[in-house]
Amino acid sequence: MALLNIIEYPDPRLKTVARPVTRFDQRLTTLIEDMAQTMYAAPGVGLAATQVDVHERLVVLDISETKDQLHVFINPEIVWTSEETLECEEGCLSVPGVYDAVTRPAKVRVRSQQADGSAYEVECVGLLSVCVQHEMDHLDGKVFVEYLSALKQSRIRTRFKKRKVKAA
Ligand code: NI
Repeated sequence: MALLNIIEYPDPRLKTVARPVTRFDQRLTTLIEDMAQTMYAAPGVGLAATQVDVHERLVVLDISETKDQLHVFINPEIVWTSEETLECEEGCLSVPGVYDAVTRPAKVRVRSQQADGSAYEVECVGLLSVCVQHEMDHLDGKVFVEYLSALKQSRIRTRFKKRKVKAA
């Protein structure tokens, strides 16, 4: 297993729309293991392949306290959303240190595939619902800060450009 590098906002690679996973092979299994290890080490509760510069429709999630409930979503699709919404403070491994409230559908039903290619559906509520929607946005090239006001987004971009300059 290997730790993967997480790309940070506003890196333009985060805007890439990921393509479907078509081969359910050893390479995919290794990628899932590496992404899970990277997410746990960060530490974070979710990671989309986009964030490690692999532009395929794959998400790993673990919202458990015990960090032993890994969810893998391959080619996920939201097939139903509730009208009821939920406001939640979100953060992102690609936007470290930034947390802000985002409102999303409270419940979603997701159709997805497992590592062996088999299809499944799961109804996600609460934090799992928020996380799966956040991670699926990454697969479409969207970062959660894009839900915030233009002013907030501009402040965050300025802050991250300064970070890059300092790091260089
Ligand atoms: Ni994120």
